[in-house]
Order: sequence, then C-alpha cells, then structure tokens
Amino acid sequence: MTGPTTASQNSLTEHLAVQGGKILNGTLKVSGAKNSALVLMTASLLTRDVVELCNVPELTDIAGMVDILRCLGVGVERSNNRIRLQADGLSNAEPPYELVNSLRASFFSIGPLLGRLGQAKVPLPGGCRIGARPVVEHIRGLKALGAQVTVEHGTVNAAVPGKSSRLKGASIILDCPSVGATETVLMAAVLAEGTTTIENAAQEPEVQDLAQLLNAMGAEITGAGGPVITIQGVERLHGVNNYPVIPDRIEAGTFLIAAAITGSPMRIEPVIPEHLNAVLQKLRDCGCRLDIDDAGVSITPGPLQAVDITTQPFPGFPTDLQAPFMALMSVAQGTSVITEKIYENRLQHVAELQRMGASIRVEGSTAVVEGVPQLSGAPVTGSDLRASAAMVLAGLAAKGVTRVSGLPHLDRGYDNIEKKLSSVGALIERQEVEIKEEKSRTEIT
Ligand code: UD1
Repeated sequence: MTGPTTASQNSLTEHLAVQGGKILNGTLKVSGAKNSALVLMTASLLTRDVVELCNVPELTDIAGMVDILRCLGVGVERSNNRIRLQADGLSNAEPPYELVNSLRASFFSIGPLLGRLGQAKVPLPGGCRIGARPVVEHIRGLKALGAQVTVEHGTVNAAVPGKSSRLKGASIILDCPSVGATETVLMAAVLAEGTTTIENAAQEPEVQDLAQLLNAMGAEITGAGGPVITIQGVERLHGVNNYPVIPDRIEAGTFLIAAAITGSPMRIEPVIPEHLNAVLQKLRDCGCRLDIDDAGVSITPGPLQAVDITTQPFPGFPTDLQAPFMALMSVAQGTSVITEKIYENRLQHVAELQRMGASIRVEGSTAVVEGVPQLSGAPVTGSDLRASAAMVLAGLAAKGVTRVSGLPHLDRGYDNIEKKLSSVGALIERQEVEIKEEKSRTEIT
C-alpha cells in the first residue's frame, strides 16, 4: 500500500539579531573589494608564475572562487588576507556547472582560459534574483577577438581556430558598459596578437584594479577607468608579489550609511574617496557632514532629509548601494524617489522594509519612499546580498529587535559584518536557530 505521511526533521539555520537604537562610535575598517578580488584571482590563470594578492576579504564568494581555481588545476595557498595562486599546472579549461552556478563571477574565467589555453568551456551562469544578467556582450567581445564561440546545452564553448592558439586584437564597441564583459575582454586580449580597443568600456574602479594588476604582470593596457581602453597584446605575462586589492567601496558605503542611519559620528577607513563620489554627495545632500582625507572619511550625521537617487554605471550611484540607501531614506524627513536602472528586479527589499514600518510605494522600477520617524524591529529576510545589508542597517535604527535571515547572501560579500559592527557598539549577534521542517514523504508499506 502506498500513502503519503509527514515526517518532521530539524535543521539548523542562522540569523542576525540586531537590537536597534544604539549610537555607534569609533572606526569601521573596510576590507578588500569582493568584486575586485574575485576577478584578480581569475587573472592568475594567465601566467605560470605565482600571483600573490593581499588585502583579500574573508568571504564565502572568495572560498567559492578558490574551489573553482583548484578544480582547474591552480595551486592555491591562503593565509590571513593573503592568497598565493599558481597556474603552472593549469590542466582543465572546463569549470563544472555546480561551481559556476553558485558563483556568477566565475564565468569571467572564460577570458583568461581562452587567452592562455586557446580554449574554454564554461557553463552559462544563469540569472539571479535581481535580474536576467545576460553574458551576450562577453561572448560578442570574444568573437571579435577571433574566437569561435557556440552555446550548447547551457555551456559556452570558445576556441581559438588555427594552430597559433592566440586571439587577434580587434576594435570592440560594447553595447552597454558591462563590468564583466569589459573584464572578460581585457583578460582575453592581454595575450592576443596585436592591439585591442574597447569602447564604451565599464569605468568601475574594479576594472582599473584589474588593469593595474595585469600591467604589473607585464601587460600593456592604457585608458582603464575611462570609456576607451587600449590593450597592446604581449606574448606572456609574469607573476606578481603582494598586489593589494582596493578597498571595498560598497562595504565603505554600507558603513557610512550605518553611521548616518544611527546618527553616529564615525570614521570609515580605508576609503578611496574618488570611488565613492556619487554616494558621498548624496550623503552630504541628505544632511551629513563629511571630512575626507587620504586615508578615509569621517562622517557627522545631521537630521536626515530625503534625497532622490537613480542608479547608474560608475561614476553614477552604484546599484549595489541602492537597497542600503533605501533603508536610510525610510527614516529621512520627506519623500525620496529611488530609481533602479541597472537591474530589472532589484526592489525586493521594499516588502521587507515595509514589514518594519517603512512607507514605500513601487511604480515600475521606481520606489517612492515617504520617510517615517522610526522603523520597528521585525523578522526579515534579505533576498540578495545587498538587500541583506539593507535589513541590517534598518535593524540598527529600528525600535526593538530585528532578526535578519538569509545570511548566506550576506556572508558572500561582507567580511565579518557583525564583528565589525559590534566593535563600534552595535548590539548584533549571530544566533543559531533550529527550524522544524515538516517533510511530506511517500512510504511504501
Ligand atoms: C558587476 C558586479 C555587481 C554589480 C554590477 C553592476 C562583479 C562580480 N559584480 O556585475 O556587483 O551590481 O557589476 O555594477 O563585479 N548586461 C547586458 N548584456 C551583457 C552584460 C550585461 O545587457 O552581456 C547588462 C546587465 O543585464 C545589467 C548591466 O548590463 O543590466 C550591468 O551588468 P554588468 O556590468 O555586466 O554586471 P556584472 O559584471 O555581472
């Protein structure tokens, strides 16, 4: 006889319990940039020599990239914030689907694999919660460099035709200034024959950081950080020691918002102010005094006034700080209009902020936020990395306790966030909770 029965099974999960209303004080230290470190790690595929990076953040995404590189045959040693990569035994140009799927940025290994080995088979990374996230521009760029590219059964197969296995320099105009496509083409073109130009290139600091690392490895790249990048191909690259990853501008922005939302005078460092100009300006506009020097930013928040933001490619306001800034605007005086222009589905945090008492109306890709005097603590879930950070920020300012679930997202991109916030006086604790799952199962008796 067959019949469905239910079985209960307990499993453990974690959440952050944030007690709101505490004034913070002191200095928050910013780690190395996740988005830089990930792509710099893949650049190690371009040489047999050792590439040593320092200021690498402690994140699950970095651990995921280590797994992928090891699987490709790269030797990896980690100690503290230092990582030593050596691709002398590069044996595999096919990262497996399971690993690529769990870490989107690993698709960017297609450029260096193709540049170094003349072939690569990388599964399409697929979309994610915030949008479809196509890689058409990456593929178009590789084709322009002479690669034959097909997409079959969910995998991108790229190969350099002919005997030489070297790509050929070309002139490429990107349809949109995609960060990933710019980085893919840069890494593919450094070992190509001849000159490549990328027009409408992404100007993000992480692209500049990559070009700087590649130049330190012997590449000849000019113009990175501007809209046109020129790459004079070289025959080989060499290793580099002690290359420092730039500070994480998104983490720095998150911490500045933590100070602003709790009304706490604080110091955030290290910060490269030019990486955050659009955000610093909005913080000033909403009533914060900023004292900026070479090492960091001191912030003295005043009463918060609503300001409007629209996300844009760099140097515009970063999409990755849209959710955290919305948390701030939830408690500002007046009405803020927040428009998301980069991703089609990046307003999922609105519903969670509403659960905490925020007054927000969504019209298409715009959120109209009417500031309220105070949020109230509630159980909430971060739907993606930056949405999770927004929940923590909202919790810091809310009355009572906010329990933030969805920590695997947060741990992807924030290095020890609760330890850092606790060190400046926040009452925030990671708690393990047991959840009872009722599982339906079919038993054959
Ligand atoms: C990088 C960052 C991510 C950030 C994003 C935008 C990494 C690991 N991640 O992601 O945190 O949110 O930049 O600043 O560095 N697009 C196309 N066609 C393409 C490629 C992209 O239309 O072929 C569109 C995307 O749909 C999106 C926009 O371009 O609307 C930006 O995407 P892109 O710059 O490529 O983002 P990522 O490099 O994936």
